[in-house]
Amino acid sequence: MNYPRAISALALLGSALILAGCQEKPGEEQARPAAQTAATQSPAGELARGLPPTPAAQSGGKALTYFNPPEKIPDNEFGKLVRQGELIFTDTPTYAKGFAGNGLNCANCHIDHGRQPNSAPLWAAYVSYPAFRKKTGEVNSFEERLQGCFMYSMNGKAPPADSEVMKALVTYAYWMAEGAPVGDTKMAGRGYPELDKPAQEPSAERGAKVFAANCAVCHGANGLGQKASNGKYVFPPLWGPDSFNWGAGMHRINTAAGFIKANMPLGKGGSLSDQDAWDVAAYMNSQPRPQDPRFTGNLAETDKKYHDENCYYGEAPILPRKKG
Ligand code: HEC
Ligand code: HEC
Repeated sequence: MNYPRAISALALLGSALILAGCQEKPGEEQARPAAQTAATQSPAGELARGLPPTPAAQSGGKALTYFNPPEKIPDNEFGKLVRQGELIFTDTPTYAKGFAGNGLNCANCHIDHGRQPNSAPLWAAYVSYPAFRKKTGEVNSFEERLQGCFMYSMNGKAPPADSEVMKALVTYAYWMAEGAPVGDTKMAGRGYPELDKPAQEPSAERGAKVFAANCAVCHGANGLGQKASNGKYVFPPLWGPDSFNWGAGMHRINTAAGFIKANMPLGKGGSLSDQDAWDVAAYMNSQPRPQDPRFTGNLAETDKKYHDENCYYGEAPILPRKKG
């Protein structure tokens, strides 16, 4: 047997496996150009245009290479629906009237119109459904996943799967995922990054200081966001009656910490220490927000059924859910 050849073949195989496993290409800069899609109605969205790649995702000094979603929406009937979906995504209360129940837009948590890696981008999501979800205990279609964000993140009502709103959103996501591998549930930049457990237990007390120093300037000292003169939020509310409810993914301290670390302060993702991200997430999620729509009428029961150790459900103030 020719040892040197066998060894070098193994080494090659090894490095190929590492590349495939981590989807990392050492030394290669992320090639994603600043996104340029249709005009947006959302001033907050404008702020987020063309952000640099998220430093949090560049582990060990190696840049990840992310999927490049298409830039140009086609000028035809299909493109019209894509644009409608983008409008719903970036100004949800206006374009999904009756379904959105708060002051948020989809794009507030899915930055850069749903294009930004590590901000639960639509291109990575679209190819990952249908999928089994622990939250619902069954296989959910992509439409059902979107319905979940309407009920919890948007504190609203789920648009029916065959509604115009749903059709437009699905078309927008489909367009953005053009060329992405169907069934690849682990595309680099999918979801929000998972942070390692912090050295110290997350502390809302320390988080209040992180908030005052890094977040209050935009989200307001009271966390309730800031509106433009047209009544629309320029800086979205982090808690209070116009924010996500106690059933939303963002109310979990670990999910919020990952989102914040990668994406906040806006334009300076990756600048907070992990500990600061955990602490400010704990602070944000110990504030009042609307009741979990799955509330059974009994706090302890709802807590046990739907909430784990990653949140303060039942320990922090709960606001009534809007009627209608
Ligand atoms: C308050 C923040 C917030 C808002 C607003 C929000 N989402 Fe989400 N969204 C999340 C979180 C948190 C997740 C879970 C991400 C994870 O598991 O890493 C998520 C997940 C998703 C996913 C699945 C992502 C994946 O890779 O599986 C889709 C699709 C999605 N949201 C679409 C929407 C749409 C459409 C809207 C508007 C109707 C919306 N979201 C509004 C926070 C939000
Ligand atoms: C420079 C202004 C700015 C700063 C500073 C900032 N944010 Fe944001 N934040 C925004 C904007 C704008 C959005 C919505 C992004 C979009 O729509 O593209 C946002 C979105 C969010 C969201 C999701 C939407 C919501 O309302 O729940 C959270 C959570 C959040 N920020 C937390 C924080 C935290 C925590 C800090 C401090 C560590 C922070 N932000 C600092 C501007 C800022």
